[in-house]
Amino acid sequence: MEDLREDPPTGLVAALARARSPERPGPDTPTGTAVRPWPGPPRPIPDAGPADLDLKALLRLSLAASDTSGRLRPTPSAGALHPVDTELVVGTGCSLPPGRYGYDPLRHRVHHIGPPVDGTPPGVTAALSVTAQRTVSHYGHRAWPLLLLDTGHAAAALFLAARVVNAGEPGVQLDGRTENPLAAVRIPPPDGRSPRRPAETEVPPTPAELLARRSTPPPLPGLPPHDALRAVMATAERAGRGGLLRWSAAVGPPRPGLMELAPEGTTPQRCASGEARPTLAAWAAGQAWLADAGAVLLAHGCPTAADAAHIRRAHLRAGFAVHLAHVTALRHGLAARPVGSWQQADLGAALGAAPGRDWVVHALALGIRHADEENST
Ligand SMILES: Cc1cc2nc3c(=O)[nH]c(=O)nc-3n(C[C@H](O)[C@H](O)[C@H](O)COP(=O)(O)O)c2cc1C
Repeated sequence: MEDLREDPPTGLVAALARARSPERPGPDTPTGTAVRPWPGPPRPIPDAGPADLDLKALLRLSLAASDTSGRLRPTPSAGALHPVDTELVVGTGCSLPPGRYGYDPLRHRVHHIGPPVDGTPPGVTAALSVTAQRTVSHYGHRAWPLLLLDTGHAAAALFLAARVVNAGEPGVQLDGRTENPLAAVRIPPPDGRSPRRPAETEVPPTPAELLARRSTPPPLPGLPPHDALRAVMATAERAGRGGLLRWSAAVGPPRPGLMELAPEGTTPQRCASGEARPTLAAWAAGQAWLADAGAVLLAHGCPTAADAAHIRRAHLRAGFAVHLAHVTALRHGLAARPVGSWQQADLGAALGAAPGRDWVVHALALGIRHADEENST
């Protein structure tokens, strides 16, 4: 009789299935270098002329390790491992001559790696890829979804920085079609002509807010006020469009349940009742503090049947949207922390639907910021 079973999944499809399984990673292995060893000497980024896109400021606000805490980048990253590498494809109208450059976020320097490619548009395109070894060193077989989420966060950091410096409207490429680069952010120079589309955050953040962003250390107790939760969910929904995802928030007492934004996006509404947070804690590598978080914003979708492009797209978009939601949460005075490691997190099946269709992809734990935290950050 003919064997009608499908071929066993390979590549990213197999990697995600294994990352979602209960299997635990083994002991840590070496991380390798903190920055990809780009060829050639490091060069400073020149100051920008009045009509130029200021690459120094753009990178300072998004990817440069500029504080004294030992952090490798200002973006969040699973395990603070920072696997994302950035190649800058520079066209005309920038504070660097046209060409291709590798970026070193620790030294805030660039390495010239090649001449401009024919047809390079004006401005800069940041092409993002990963050194998987860094995340694999701690998370082992659980690394791939985290690598994609981290890349989405880095794309969002560039997107927000572009809104703060004098630049044209940034465009993000997070369609998941290519493995290298995984994502790209194109930032036109300030030609004064590109019309601004509606912002993906209500009001662009300030430079100080971008540089001060941190993940609040657990615990994160306290149900966020309704308006703040609505703003965070609306940001995530808007920025997550195109990722084939749905967004919900698990909330605790006084009425524990799962909230979704009403179709018109105006207000969070209860779509399921019951306490979900302890289950979420078990699914997120047993991180017990999640059971007491004030709310947990969830990006979910990415079915078992998803192909590699769909998996990349869903995770890149989830990382991008959670980053923007994180900045919105902090602006509303909330405590917030991304949570990206999920095993057996079949939310759809847990809510009684068919299994394998609606997995948790990424999350943002939310709480109320307390006075003692304000003083310590
Ligand atoms: C994709 C992703 C997944 C993360 N997952 C977790 C997590 O599961 N648990 C946790 O406590 N923090 C998690 N974090 C937060 C990181 O630990 C944090 O970003 C990192 O330590 C750097 O700190 P910072 O965000 O304050 O700069 C995650 C961050 C990212 C970007």
